[in-house]
Amino acid sequence: MIIAPRGTHDILPSESYRWHLIEDKIKEICLEFGYKEIRTPMFESTELFERGVGDTTDVVQKEMYTFLDKGGRSVTLRPEGTSPIVRSFVESSLYAQPQPTKLYYLYPCFRYEKPQAGRLREFHQFGVEVMGADTAAVDAEVISLAMQVFSRLNVTGIELNINSIGCPKCRAAYNEKLKAFFKPHLGELCETCRQRYEKNPLRILDCKVKSCKAIYNHAPVLLDNICEDCAAHFEQLKRYLEVMEIPYQIDATIVRGLDYYTKTVFEIISKNKGSEGTICGGGRYNGLIAEIGGPEMTGVGFAMGLERLLLVLESLDLIPENLERPDIFIANVGDQADLFVQKLVYGLRNAGISAERDYLSRSVKAQMKYANKTGAQFSAVIGDDDIAAKSASVKNMQTGETDNVPFDHLAEFIKTNTMTR
Ligand code: HAM
Repeated sequence: MIIAPRGTHDILPSESYRWHLIEDKIKEICLEFGYKEIRTPMFESTELFERGVGDTTDVVQKEMYTFLDKGGRSVTLRPEGTSPIVRSFVESSLYAQPQPTKLYYLYPCFRYEKPQAGRLREFHQFGVEVMGADTAAVDAEVISLAMQVFSRLNVTGIELNINSIGCPKCRAAYNEKLKAFFKPHLGELCETCRQRYEKNPLRILDCKVKSCKAIYNHAPVLLDNICEDCAAHFEQLKRYLEVMEIPYQIDATIVRGLDYYTKTVFEIISKNKGSEGTICGGGRYNGLIAEIGGPEMTGVGFAMGLERLLLVLESLDLIPENLERPDIFIANVGDQADLFVQKLVYGLRNAGISAERDYLSRSVKAQMKYANKTGAQFSAVIGDDDIAAKSASVKNMQTGETDNVPFDHLAEFIKTNTMTR
Protein backbone atom coordinates (compact mmCIF):
# COMPACT_ATOMS: atom_id res chain seq x y z
CA MET A 1 0.00 0.00 0.00
CA ILE A 2 1.27 3.49 -0.81
CA ILE A 3 0.73 5.86 2.09
CA ALA A 4 0.74 9.68 2.24
CA PRO A 5 4.17 11.28 2.79
CA ARG A 6 5.16 11.81 6.44
CA GLY A 7 3.87 15.10 7.85
CA THR A 8 1.01 15.41 5.34
CA HIS A 9 -2.63 14.59 5.83
CA ASP A 10 -5.73 14.07 3.75
CA ILE A 11 -8.68 16.28 4.49
CA LEU A 12 -11.37 13.63 4.25
CA PRO A 13 -15.00 14.27 3.24
CA SER A 14 -16.04 13.90 6.89
CA GLU A 15 -13.67 16.73 7.89
CA SER A 16 -13.81 19.12 4.95
CA TYR A 17 -16.86 20.93 6.37
CA ARG A 18 -14.69 22.15 9.27
CA TRP A 19 -12.38 23.77 6.75
CA HIS A 20 -15.32 25.36 4.92
CA LEU A 21 -16.52 26.70 8.25
CA ILE A 22 -13.31 28.54 9.08
CA GLU A 23 -12.56 29.54 5.50
CA ASP A 24 -16.04 31.05 5.06
CA LYS A 25 -15.67 33.00 8.31
CA ILE A 26 -12.23 34.24 7.27
CA LYS A 27 -13.46 35.36 3.83
CA GLU A 28 -16.39 37.19 5.45
CA ILE A 29 -14.04 39.05 7.81
CA CYS A 30 -11.55 39.91 5.04
CA LEU A 31 -14.33 41.37 2.95
CA GLU A 32 -15.44 43.56 5.87
CA PHE A 33 -11.87 44.75 6.47
CA GLY A 34 -11.36 45.49 2.75
CA TYR A 35 -8.82 42.77 1.89
CA LYS A 36 -8.78 41.09 -1.53
CA GLU A 37 -7.67 37.53 -2.14
CA ILE A 38 -4.38 36.76 -3.89
CA ARG A 39 -3.21 33.34 -5.09
CA THR A 40 0.39 32.73 -6.09
CA PRO A 41 2.14 29.58 -7.40
CA MET A 42 2.93 26.74 -5.03
CA PHE A 43 6.61 26.88 -6.00
CA GLU A 44 8.96 29.77 -6.62
CA SER A 45 12.63 30.31 -7.49
CA THR A 46 14.69 29.21 -4.49
CA GLU A 47 16.47 32.56 -4.53
CA LEU A 48 13.23 34.34 -3.56
CA PHE A 49 13.18 32.68 -0.13
CA GLU A 50 16.94 32.91 0.35
CA ARG A 51 16.68 36.66 -0.14
CA GLY A 52 13.25 37.20 1.46
CA VAL A 53 13.19 34.85 4.44
CA GLY A 54 16.98 35.07 4.89
CA ASP A 55 19.76 32.53 4.40
CA THR A 56 20.59 32.31 8.12
CA THR A 57 17.07 31.26 9.19
CA ASP A 58 16.05 27.71 10.16
CA VAL A 59 13.41 27.82 7.41
CA VAL A 60 15.99 28.36 4.66
CA GLN A 61 18.85 26.41 6.21
CA LYS A 62 16.93 23.32 7.29
CA GLU A 63 13.30 23.22 6.23
CA MET A 64 12.84 23.98 2.54
CA TYR A 65 11.65 21.51 -0.07
CA THR A 66 14.11 22.52 -2.76
CA PHE A 67 14.80 20.63 -5.98
CA LEU A 68 16.08 21.09 -9.51
CA ASP A 69 13.37 20.94 -12.15
CA LYS A 70 13.95 19.23 -15.48
CA GLY A 71 15.35 22.49 -16.86
CA GLY A 72 17.98 22.54 -14.11
CA ARG A 73 16.41 25.50 -12.22
CA SER A 74 16.38 25.44 -8.45
CA VAL A 75 12.79 25.76 -7.25
CA THR A 76 11.27 25.57 -3.76
CA LEU A 77 7.79 24.67 -2.52
CA ARG A 78 6.75 27.83 -0.68
CA PRO A 79 7.57 27.56 3.04
CA GLU A 80 5.59 30.77 3.72
CA GLY A 81 3.35 33.22 1.93
CA THR A 82 4.87 36.68 2.38
CA SER A 83 7.85 36.54 0.00
CA PRO A 84 5.76 35.17 -2.93
CA ILE A 85 3.17 37.90 -2.42
CA VAL A 86 5.81 40.60 -2.33
CA ARG A 87 7.30 39.07 -5.50
CA SER A 88 3.89 39.26 -7.16
CA PHE A 89 3.30 42.82 -5.86
CA VAL A 90 6.53 43.90 -7.54
CA GLU A 91 6.21 41.79 -10.71
CA SER A 92 2.59 42.84 -11.35
CA SER A 93 3.32 46.51 -10.51
CA LEU A 94 0.59 46.53 -7.87
CA TYR A 95 2.66 49.28 -6.24
CA ALA A 96 1.58 51.63 -9.04
CA GLN A 97 -2.05 51.43 -7.90
CA PRO A 98 -3.60 53.55 -5.13
CA GLN A 99 -2.13 52.47 -1.79
CA PRO A 100 -2.32 50.67 0.53
CA THR A 101 -2.64 47.26 -1.13
CA LYS A 102 -4.57 44.98 1.24
CA LEU A 103 -4.34 41.28 0.40
CA TYR A 104 -5.27 37.96 1.97
CA TYR A 105 -4.46 34.36 1.16
CA LEU A 106 -5.47 30.87 2.18
CA TYR A 107 -3.06 28.26 0.97
CA PRO A 108 -0.74 25.33 1.67
CA CYS A 109 2.89 25.85 2.67
CA PHE A 110 5.67 23.27 2.98
CA ARG A 111 8.41 22.91 5.57
CA TYR A 112 10.61 19.90 6.20
CA GLU A 113 10.08 19.79 9.96
CA LYS A 114 9.82 17.00 12.48
CA PRO A 115 6.09 16.20 12.39
CA GLN A 116 4.11 16.32 15.64
CA ALA A 117 0.69 17.60 16.76
CA GLY A 118 0.16 20.95 15.00
CA ARG A 119 3.49 20.70 13.14
CA LEU A 120 3.24 19.31 9.63
CA ARG A 121 5.30 19.23 6.48
CA GLU A 122 2.33 20.41 4.44
CA PHE A 123 0.18 22.85 6.38
CA HIS A 124 -2.26 25.60 5.52
CA GLN A 125 -1.93 29.28 6.28
CA PHE A 126 -4.43 32.09 6.31
CA GLY A 127 -2.52 35.31 6.04
CA VAL A 128 -2.85 38.99 5.20
CA GLU A 129 -0.32 41.44 3.83
CA VAL A 130 -0.70 45.23 3.62
CA MET A 131 1.80 47.06 1.48
CA GLY A 132 2.35 50.76 0.92
CA ALA A 133 1.46 52.16 4.37
CA ASP A 134 3.89 52.77 7.20
CA THR A 135 1.63 53.94 10.02
CA ALA A 136 1.09 52.00 13.24
CA ALA A 137 -2.64 52.17 12.43
CA VAL A 138 -2.08 49.50 9.78
CA ASP A 139 -0.17 47.28 12.20
CA ALA A 140 -3.10 47.65 14.58
CA GLU A 141 -5.63 46.89 11.83
CA VAL A 142 -3.79 43.74 10.84
CA ILE A 143 -3.66 42.57 14.48
CA SER A 144 -7.33 43.43 14.97
CA LEU A 145 -8.22 41.33 11.91
CA ALA A 146 -6.39 38.31 13.34
CA MET A 147 -8.14 38.82 16.69
CA GLN A 148 -11.51 39.04 14.89
CA VAL A 149 -11.02 35.53 13.53
CA PHE A 150 -10.73 34.19 17.07
CA SER A 151 -13.61 36.21 18.48
CA ARG A 152 -15.91 35.39 15.55
CA LEU A 153 -15.20 31.69 16.11
CA ASN A 154 -15.82 32.16 19.88
CA VAL A 155 -12.25 31.14 20.75
CA THR A 156 -11.19 31.97 24.30
CA GLY A 157 -7.90 31.37 26.13
CA ILE A 158 -5.65 33.13 23.62
CA GLU A 159 -3.01 35.79 24.24
CA LEU A 160 -1.68 38.52 21.99
CA ASN A 161 2.02 39.24 22.53
CA ILE A 162 3.68 42.19 20.83
CA ASN A 163 7.24 43.47 20.53
CA SER A 164 9.36 45.79 18.42
CA ILE A 165 12.58 44.57 16.88
CA GLY A 166 13.56 47.97 15.53
CA CYS A 167 14.86 49.03 12.15
CA PRO A 168 18.25 48.37 10.47
CA LYS A 169 19.52 51.62 12.03
CA CYS A 170 18.91 50.66 15.66
CA ARG A 171 19.66 47.02 14.99
CA ALA A 172 23.20 47.72 13.74
CA ALA A 173 24.15 49.11 17.17
CA TYR A 174 22.28 46.29 18.93
CA ASN A 175 24.05 43.64 16.84
CA GLU A 176 27.38 44.96 18.12
CA LYS A 177 26.11 44.65 21.72
CA LEU A 178 24.91 41.11 21.00
CA LYS A 179 28.25 40.12 19.52
CA ALA A 180 30.06 41.47 22.57
CA PHE A 181 27.65 39.45 24.75
CA PHE A 182 28.08 36.18 22.81
CA LYS A 183 31.84 36.45 22.27
CA PRO A 184 32.87 34.75 25.54
CA HIS A 185 30.25 31.99 24.88
CA LEU A 186 31.14 31.23 21.25
CA GLY A 187 32.47 27.77 22.08
CA GLU A 188 29.16 26.82 23.79
CA LEU A 189 26.94 27.79 20.83
CA CYS A 190 25.77 25.23 18.27
CA GLU A 191 27.54 25.04 14.90
CA THR A 192 24.71 26.95 13.11
CA CYS A 193 24.75 29.74 15.70
CA ARG A 194 28.52 30.12 15.44
CA GLN A 195 27.97 30.97 11.75
CA ARG A 196 25.03 33.22 12.68
CA TYR A 197 27.33 35.11 15.07
CA GLU A 198 29.21 36.55 12.11
CA LYS A 199 26.37 37.03 9.64
CA ASN A 200 23.27 37.74 11.73
CA PRO A 201 23.65 37.50 15.53
CA LEU A 202 19.95 38.33 16.12
CA ARG A 203 19.08 34.92 14.60
CA ILE A 204 20.80 33.21 17.55
CA LEU A 205 17.91 34.44 19.72
CA ASP A 206 15.56 32.19 17.76
CA CYS A 207 17.66 29.01 18.02
CA LYS A 208 15.78 26.02 19.42
CA VAL A 209 18.90 24.21 20.71
CA LYS A 210 18.75 24.02 24.53
CA SER A 211 22.38 24.97 25.20
CA CYS A 212 22.02 28.08 22.98
CA LYS A 213 18.77 29.03 24.74
CA ALA A 214 20.48 28.83 28.14
CA ILE A 215 22.97 31.45 26.95
CA TYR A 216 20.75 33.86 25.04
CA ASN A 217 18.20 34.03 27.85
CA HIS A 218 20.59 36.53 29.46
CA ALA A 219 21.37 38.53 26.31
CA PRO A 220 20.68 42.29 26.09
CA VAL A 221 17.03 42.98 25.19
CA LEU A 222 16.37 44.51 21.76
CA LEU A 223 13.27 46.41 22.90
CA ASP A 224 15.47 48.40 25.32
CA ASN A 225 17.76 49.34 22.44
CA ILE A 226 15.44 50.59 19.69
CA CYS A 227 15.71 54.11 18.24
CA GLU A 228 13.30 56.98 18.95
CA ASP A 229 11.38 56.55 15.73
CA CYS A 230 10.79 52.82 16.34
CA ALA A 231 9.85 53.47 19.98
CA ALA A 232 7.30 56.11 18.90
CA HIS A 233 5.82 53.67 16.36
CA PHE A 234 5.49 51.03 19.09
CA GLU A 235 3.83 53.50 21.50
CA GLN A 236 1.35 54.49 18.80
CA LEU A 237 0.56 50.83 18.09
CA LYS A 238 -0.25 50.30 21.77
CA ARG A 239 -2.59 53.32 21.72
CA TYR A 240 -4.46 51.96 18.69
CA LEU A 241 -4.84 48.55 20.32
CA GLU A 242 -6.10 50.20 23.49
CA VAL A 243 -8.77 52.27 21.70
CA MET A 244 -10.01 49.07 20.04
CA GLU A 245 -9.95 47.40 23.48
CA ILE A 246 -7.72 44.61 22.26
CA PRO A 247 -5.78 43.22 25.24
CA TYR A 248 -2.08 42.61 24.67
CA GLN A 249 1.12 41.84 26.50
CA ILE A 250 4.61 42.95 25.65
CA ASP A 251 6.96 40.04 25.11
CA ALA A 252 10.47 41.35 24.49
CA THR A 253 11.73 37.85 23.63
CA ILE A 254 9.79 37.66 20.33
CA VAL A 255 12.25 37.89 17.43
CA ARG A 256 10.33 35.70 14.90
CA GLY A 257 11.93 33.04 12.74
CA LEU A 258 12.18 34.99 9.49
CA ASP A 259 14.67 37.74 8.66
CA TYR A 260 12.46 40.32 6.98
CA TYR A 261 10.88 41.84 10.07
CA THR A 262 11.36 45.44 11.21
CA LYS A 263 9.62 47.34 14.03
CA THR A 264 6.38 45.60 15.06
CA VAL A 265 6.31 41.82 15.59
CA PHE A 266 3.55 39.85 17.27
CA GLU A 267 2.35 36.35 18.07
CA ILE A 268 -1.00 34.98 19.16
CA ILE A 269 -0.71 32.04 21.53
CA SER A 270 -3.27 29.48 22.64
CA LYS A 271 -3.22 28.64 26.34
CA ASN A 272 -5.93 26.02 25.93
CA LYS A 273 -5.16 22.53 27.15
CA GLY A 274 -4.46 20.25 24.20
CA SER A 275 -3.76 23.07 21.74
CA GLU A 276 -1.06 25.15 23.45
CA GLY A 277 1.30 27.10 21.21
CA THR A 278 1.61 29.80 18.59
CA ILE A 279 -1.30 29.90 16.19
CA CYS A 280 -0.52 33.17 14.48
CA GLY A 281 2.60 35.24 13.89
CA GLY A 282 3.43 38.34 11.97
CA GLY A 283 4.85 41.80 11.85
CA ARG A 284 6.16 44.65 9.77
CA TYR A 285 8.70 44.14 6.96
CA ASN A 286 9.83 47.52 5.74
CA GLY A 287 12.86 46.42 3.71
CA LEU A 288 11.45 43.35 1.99
CA ILE A 289 9.85 44.97 -1.07
CA ALA A 290 13.09 46.74 -2.03
CA GLU A 291 15.09 43.57 -1.23
CA ILE A 292 13.01 41.69 -3.80
CA GLY A 293 13.62 44.34 -6.47
CA GLY A 294 10.65 46.64 -5.90
CA PRO A 295 10.39 50.26 -4.80
CA GLU A 296 11.16 51.45 -1.25
CA MET A 297 7.73 50.58 0.15
CA THR A 298 6.71 49.13 3.49
CA GLY A 299 4.64 46.12 4.45
CA VAL A 300 2.99 44.41 7.40
CA GLY A 301 1.07 41.15 7.80
CA PHE A 302 0.58 37.88 9.59
CA ALA A 303 -0.09 34.22 8.96
CA MET A 304 -2.18 31.82 10.98
CA GLY A 305 -1.83 28.04 10.84
CA LEU A 306 -5.24 26.59 9.99
CA GLU A 307 -4.45 23.10 11.37
CA ARG A 308 -3.53 24.79 14.65
CA LEU A 309 -6.68 26.90 14.58
CA LEU A 310 -8.74 23.73 14.11
CA LEU A 311 -6.90 22.09 17.03
CA VAL A 312 -7.89 25.04 19.21
CA LEU A 313 -11.53 24.81 18.08
CA GLU A 314 -11.48 21.09 18.83
CA SER A 315 -9.90 21.55 22.25
CA LEU A 316 -12.66 24.04 23.13
CA ASP A 317 -15.37 21.83 21.65
CA LEU A 318 -16.38 24.61 19.26
CA ILE A 319 -16.88 22.60 16.09
CA PRO A 320 -20.58 22.36 15.28
CA GLU A 321 -22.17 19.29 13.72
CA ASN A 322 -21.82 18.82 10.00
CA LEU A 323 -24.74 20.53 8.26
CA GLU A 324 -23.53 19.65 4.77
CA ARG A 325 -26.20 17.11 3.84
CA PRO A 326 -28.90 16.66 1.20
CA ASP A 327 -32.10 18.66 1.56
CA ILE A 328 -34.04 15.74 0.13
CA PHE A 329 -33.48 12.14 -0.86
CA ILE A 330 -35.88 10.85 -3.52
CA ALA A 331 -36.31 7.08 -3.73
CA ASN A 332 -37.94 5.38 -6.71
CA VAL A 333 -40.00 2.27 -7.34
CA GLY A 334 -40.03 0.83 -10.90
CA ASP A 335 -38.49 1.75 -14.23
CA GLN A 336 -40.80 4.67 -15.03
CA ALA A 337 -40.10 6.22 -11.61
CA ASP A 338 -36.37 5.67 -12.07
CA LEU A 339 -36.43 7.93 -15.16
CA PHE A 340 -38.83 10.38 -13.57
CA VAL A 341 -36.67 10.74 -10.43
CA GLN A 342 -33.58 11.40 -12.57
CA LYS A 343 -35.43 14.35 -14.13
CA LEU A 344 -36.89 15.51 -10.81
CA VAL A 345 -33.57 15.49 -8.98
CA TYR A 346 -31.89 17.35 -11.84
CA GLY A 347 -34.67 19.97 -11.80
CA LEU A 348 -34.40 20.44 -8.02
CA ARG A 349 -30.62 20.88 -8.21
CA ASN A 350 -31.17 23.43 -10.96
CA ALA A 351 -33.42 25.29 -8.54
CA GLY A 352 -30.67 25.37 -5.89
CA ILE A 353 -31.81 22.38 -3.83
CA SER A 354 -29.39 19.73 -2.68
CA ALA A 355 -31.22 16.62 -3.91
CA GLU A 356 -29.99 13.03 -3.89
CA ARG A 357 -31.20 9.74 -5.42
CA ASP A 358 -30.26 6.07 -5.51
CA TYR A 359 -27.64 4.94 -8.03
CA LEU A 360 -27.30 1.29 -7.04
CA SER A 361 -30.76 -0.06 -8.02
CA ARG A 362 -31.46 -0.76 -4.35
CA SER A 363 -34.79 -1.98 -2.96
CA VAL A 364 -37.01 0.79 -1.49
CA LYS A 365 -36.11 -0.36 2.02
CA ALA A 366 -32.40 -0.16 1.23
CA GLN A 367 -32.87 3.22 -0.46
CA MET A 368 -34.49 4.60 2.70
CA LYS A 369 -31.77 3.14 4.90
CA TYR A 370 -29.23 4.91 2.72
CA ALA A 371 -31.30 8.13 2.81
CA ASN A 372 -31.04 8.02 6.60
CA LYS A 373 -27.27 7.62 6.44
CA THR A 374 -26.88 10.67 4.18
CA GLY A 375 -28.60 12.76 6.87
CA ALA A 376 -31.16 14.06 4.32
CA GLN A 377 -33.72 16.37 5.92
CA PHE A 378 -36.60 15.20 3.74
CA SER A 379 -37.35 12.11 1.73
CA ALA A 380 -39.93 10.96 -0.77
CA VAL A 381 -40.65 7.61 -2.42
CA ILE A 382 -41.90 7.93 -5.97
CA GLY A 383 -43.87 5.25 -7.83
CA ASP A 384 -46.20 5.21 -10.85
CA ASP A 385 -49.19 6.47 -8.78
CA ASP A 386 -47.30 9.56 -7.64
CA ILE A 387 -46.27 10.35 -11.20
CA ALA A 388 -49.91 10.12 -12.30
CA ALA A 389 -51.02 12.30 -9.34
CA LYS A 390 -48.22 14.83 -10.06
CA SER A 391 -47.42 14.98 -6.35
CA ALA A 392 -45.62 13.00 -3.66
CA SER A 393 -45.71 12.45 0.05
CA VAL A 394 -42.67 14.27 1.47
CA LYS A 395 -41.42 13.09 4.85
CA ASN A 396 -39.55 15.19 7.37
CA MET A 397 -36.85 12.71 8.43
CA GLN A 398 -36.51 14.16 11.89
CA THR A 399 -40.13 14.54 12.98
CA GLY A 400 -41.62 11.82 10.76
CA GLU A 401 -44.34 14.27 9.62
CA THR A 402 -45.48 13.99 6.01
CA ASP A 403 -46.95 16.51 3.56
CA ASN A 404 -48.45 15.90 0.17
CA VAL A 405 -46.54 18.26 -2.14
CA PRO A 406 -47.19 18.76 -5.88
CA PHE A 407 -43.96 18.30 -7.91
CA ASP A 408 -44.36 21.87 -9.19
CA HIS A 409 -44.11 23.17 -5.61
CA LEU A 410 -41.46 20.79 -4.33
CA ALA A 411 -38.50 23.20 -4.67
CA GLU A 412 -40.40 25.98 -2.92
CA PHE A 413 -41.59 23.61 -0.16
CA ILE A 414 -38.03 22.51 0.56
CA LYS A 415 -36.65 26.03 0.46
CA THR A 416 -39.13 27.21 3.05
CA ASN A 417 -38.82 24.18 5.31
CA THR A 418 -35.14 23.20 5.44
CA MET A 419 -33.25 24.18 8.56
CA THR A 420 -30.01 25.31 6.95
CA ARG A 421 -31.53 27.96 4.71
P1 HAM B 1 5.44 31.83 10.74
O1 HAM B 1 5.46 32.23 12.17
O2 HAM B 1 6.62 31.10 10.23
O3 HAM B 1 5.21 33.16 9.91
O4 HAM B 1 4.16 30.95 10.47
C1 HAM B 1 2.88 31.45 10.77
C2 HAM B 1 2.01 30.37 11.35
O5 HAM B 1 1.97 29.25 10.48
C3 HAM B 1 2.51 29.79 12.67
O6 HAM B 1 2.14 30.57 13.76
C4 HAM B 1 1.81 28.44 12.69
O7 HAM B 1 0.48 28.57 13.16
C5 HAM B 1 1.78 28.07 11.23
N1 HAM B 1 2.87 27.10 10.95
C6 HAM B 1 4.16 27.36 10.68
N2 HAM B 1 4.84 26.22 10.47
C7 HAM B 1 3.95 25.21 10.61
C8 HAM B 1 4.03 23.77 10.50
N3 HAM B 1 5.17 23.15 10.19
N4 HAM B 1 2.90 23.05 10.71
C9 HAM B 1 1.74 23.66 11.01
N5 HAM B 1 1.60 25.00 11.11
C10 HAM B 1 2.69 25.77 10.92
C11 HAM B 1 5.12 33.22 8.57
O8 HAM B 1 5.03 32.26 7.85
C12 HAM B 1 5.08 34.65 8.03
N6 HAM B 1 5.02 34.59 6.57
C13 HAM B 1 3.92 35.39 8.62
C14 HAM B 1 3.83 36.79 8.12
C15 HAM B 1 3.00 37.26 7.16
N7 HAM B 1 4.54 37.82 8.51
C16 HAM B 1 4.21 38.89 7.85
N8 HAM B 1 3.28 38.57 7.00
